[in-house]
Amino acid sequence: MWKAYYTPVSVEEALRLLAEHAGRARLIAGGTDLILELERGQRPDVEVLIDITRIPGLDTIEQGPDGRIHLGPLVTHNQVVASPLCRARAFPLAQACWEVGSPQIRNRGTVAGNLITASPANDTIVPLWAMDATVTLQSVRGRRILSFEDFYQGVRRTAMAPDEMLVDIAFAPLEPNERGIFLKLGLRRFQAISVVSVAAVVAFDGERVARARIALGAVAPTIVRAREAEDFLQGRALTDDAIARAGELARGAARPIDDIRGPAWYRAEMVRVLTMRALRRLREGAEREGFPERPAQLWARGEGRWPTWLQVPPGLATWDGQVCHREEGPEPIVTTVNGQRVVVHGANDKTLLRMLREDLHLTGTKEGCGEGECGACTVILDGMAVMSCLVPAPRAHGAEILTVEGVAAGGRLHPVQAAFIRHGAVQCGYCTPGFVMSGVALLAEIPRPTRDQIRQAFAGNLCRCTGYYSLLEAVEEAAGAGP
Ligand code: FES
Ligand code: FES
Repeated sequence: MWKAYYTPVSVEEALRLLAEHAGRARLIAGGTDLILELERGQRPDVEVLIDITRIPGLDTIEQGPDGRIHLGPLVTHNQVVASPLCRARAFPLAQACWEVGSPQIRNRGTVAGNLITASPANDTIVPLWAMDATVTLQSVRGRRILSFEDFYQGVRRTAMAPDEMLVDIAFAPLEPNERGIFLKLGLRRFQAISVVSVAAVVAFDGERVARARIALGAVAPTIVRAREAEDFLQGRALTDDAIARAGELARGAARPIDDIRGPAWYRAEMVRVLTMRALRRLREGAEREGFPERPAQLWARGEGRWPTWLQVPPGLATWDGQVCHREEGPEPIVTTVNGQRVVVHGANDKTLLRMLREDLHLTGTKEGCGEGECGACTVILDGMAVMSCLVPAPRAHGAEILTVEGVAAGGRLHPVQAAFIRHGAVQCGYCTPGFVMSGVALLAEIPRPTRDQIRQAFAGNLCRCTGYYSLLEAVEEAAGAGP
């Protein structure tokens, strides 16, 4: 799928590689969109991947000396969901991140990647646009800061040049008099692409609106602001009449198209409905309703941050110990799978799923969709559940992987496996390894999960035959059994 895979350990080296291979190279972090595009042959121009996930210091969420919240380019969706700063001062962004894909996707996918993909249906762009965020782009030529209005140029088109890297996302935190909300309409509860989404941020002066910012997703070539609605609300109380009028004005800002997820007229109408719903929730202070206090992230270990060190002794394999780790052609991937050090040759252009199955013959991990939708390929990579069909195999170099073959210990099944058997949570069994891995990751993270947390943990796993009740009950029982 790609000819060369580089793993730089500094931004400077990443930028140098980007400049050297400009036009043929893409940066990769989570890769949840890019791997899919490469698999589908939609990126014939991309021959070089530059993996920036080993660069230290790029996954921070912090309030800077300028008072703004800064997200590094490696901040994942799940990190935002868990961030006390984002939950307190950028709540619509935390809500949007929670709506992205499934836990496995949110563990790999980054907010920066979501912005760069530039689909008008991408969830995180909407609240960030409503919060007037900026992006900082860097290349060997220098840095520039762009507003979203300047950054986005059309469907999946941005102002980012081929040699640039998005190095910072920044926005002002919500003030004590401001409240914000993100609402999304999808065709299903999880793993859904937006039919319509709305983010509203309102600054209150007593009962009145001092300032309103409303952004609309999936209803135009880029995210759009509902400027007329914003202007109309300024200085008014959020009465039912004012909210109804703002909903009408927001509908007027939408320019939707018909597509597989819904006809244009329906989308426009849903803009009106969601805008009204958002404003009512803000008026009532009910924007946090339904947002989980302790979401299941499938962090079996750690706090959702990817290690930047390579667990490979210097001198072994391709690590030069200095600036850039480089893998091409026959160079081996040295990794630890189920506690065993393995050396794999010839897998540099594969996904992790294919490497596990084809090279290591660990066929317990299944390919269902190959697109991050079904969860059958779930493994635990460096302590987090991921979809292995969307992970480049070279990312496993220096990593630790747990597959379904490795969860039983000392000749005894893991409590999740044993409970699956007792509850008849298996029929054809194709989905089972993925469910087991999600269950194992969940219990390592939350030893006594609620029914809701188990549902959240299984949001990225599909089963076509068993039905879900026995799966939920099995994990409840396994939690009771405890490790
Ligand atoms: Fe990876 Fe379906 S999610 S095969
Ligand atoms: Fe057959 Fe789940 S048991 S797909």
